[in-house]
Amino acid sequence: MYKFPKDSKLNKPEFLFGVATASYQIEGATNVDERCPSIWDTFCAKPGAVYKQHNGDVACNHYNLYQQDVDLISSLGVDAYRLSIAWPRIIKTDGSVNQKGLDFYDRLISALEEKNITIMATLYHWDLPQYLEDKGGWLNRETSVKFAEYTDVVSSYFGDRISFYVTLNEPWCSAYHGYRYGIHAPGIADEKSGFLACHNLLLAHGMAMPILRKNASNSKHGIVLNFTPNYPVDDSSIEAAQFADDEHSHWFLKPLIDGKYPESVYNHFLDVMPVIESTDMQIISEKIDFLGVNFYSRSMVSNARQGKVSDTILQKLDRAEIRMQESNDVLDDDTKAEKLQKLMNQKGIHYNSVDLEEVERTHIGWEVHPEALLKLLTDLNQTYQLPPIYITENGAAVDDQLVGGKIDDEQRYRYYQNHLSMVDQAIKLGVDIRGYFAWSLMDNFEWAEGYKMRFGIVYVDYETQTRTLKRSAIKFQEFLNARKQGLL
Ligand code: FCB
Repeated sequence: MYKFPKDSKLNKPEFLFGVATASYQIEGATNVDERCPSIWDTFCAKPGAVYKQHNGDVACNHYNLYQQDVDLISSLGVDAYRLSIAWPRIIKTDGSVNQKGLDFYDRLISALEEKNITIMATLYHWDLPQYLEDKGGWLNRETSVKFAEYTDVVSSYFGDRISFYVTLNEPWCSAYHGYRYGIHAPGIADEKSGFLACHNLLLAHGMAMPILRKNASNSKHGIVLNFTPNYPVDDSSIEAAQFADDEHSHWFLKPLIDGKYPESVYNHFLDVMPVIESTDMQIISEKIDFLGVNFYSRSMVSNARQGKVSDTILQKLDRAEIRMQESNDVLDDDTKAEKLQKLMNQKGIHYNSVDLEEVERTHIGWEVHPEALLKLLTDLNQTYQLPPIYITENGAAVDDQLVGGKIDDEQRYRYYQNHLSMVDQAIKLGVDIRGYFAWSLMDNFEWAEGYKMRFGIVYVDYETQTRTLKRSAIKFQEFLNARKQGLL
């Protein structure tokens, strides 16, 4: 079983242990009970967008198998379950409330209540109704207003039955992957759109907060951000790594906590910044009760004068080149690259992503580096006045093999043990961490990677929908049972 030092807070029943999932990744049943299409249904249908054109039509069929899955969650001995509510099931195309959607979550929540499982519900885990995307999606400020209305429907219906409300899961992914790099739904690759989507997402979060407080005054309300800390490959890349952190982490956290975007990034991307209205930052920085931290890996960066030029930089160079051409500044090819690079350098610090060789990686290619979680938590704690933290996602993709009815996911087991030990250390260094959710309860639809990547502690046979506990899950079970019996 997982083991921590005797004095570890993780051994105490107050520390919340849970497993996490998200609606589109597990529910299936995309065509029933008047659920309307989401941007992921549309994106999956685009050739080349998702591995083998997989989609969420069936997924883990959790919509129908929810009772069995709740029994499974309960059998693990966890305290809590982090689920997400599908907006397309709740608000119909004409804006009216879909009672059948609310009924599904009512059944699910009741089943969890019966097992005494604390519920953390994410209101937006990327499945935007397609009818809203048709009107601009997160590029349209009106979507933030729609999110607040949807939040009102859900939170007035379920109130305090949901102990933790999460407004958004990883706005970084929604905005940057969805609208800046185009690798997630809706598949838009445009820098300006990426930043605009980001701002509207954060606004949506801020607009939802007072509504949540009113409708569920005994619950806790917060947001989940993803962090992939950037490490410099060498001394000449320290500033580059700092800039990358500003762009990918602080760009989301600073406005939430301090009501400001990081200046370095703002100035660097000045020409693609969204219009910020006078009360926006105040709305965005509405006090949160907790911060959800999702952590999987770290990223290595070098300053842009080394190695290959990253795609982001190339895009920027393209734009710069267009601007130069527009101003009739015609250059020959040799000097062009140099001049453009200079031009970019004047605007700030640039960086490239570097893949280290000979480091341990998970099946999805992400480096395993548990110490980065410890450093991240202590750094954030020093930089910000933070509310309590919950690790809302952490886990590993492994190419699991079912052998003789068993799955020995040694790498995942080790991953959990080592990352949880970092959480223990961070708590000892003064970081207020109250809980930890493993991603994921079971294998599921891993977005652009389809069903190829397995993140579950429970194995799913997609043909038969059979669930089998992997070794990593059995270790959780043993640990949590021992904890319940006061044996630790
Ligand atoms: C996170 C997502 C989650 C899952 C994991 C592996 O970015 O929030 O849905 O896909 O990555």
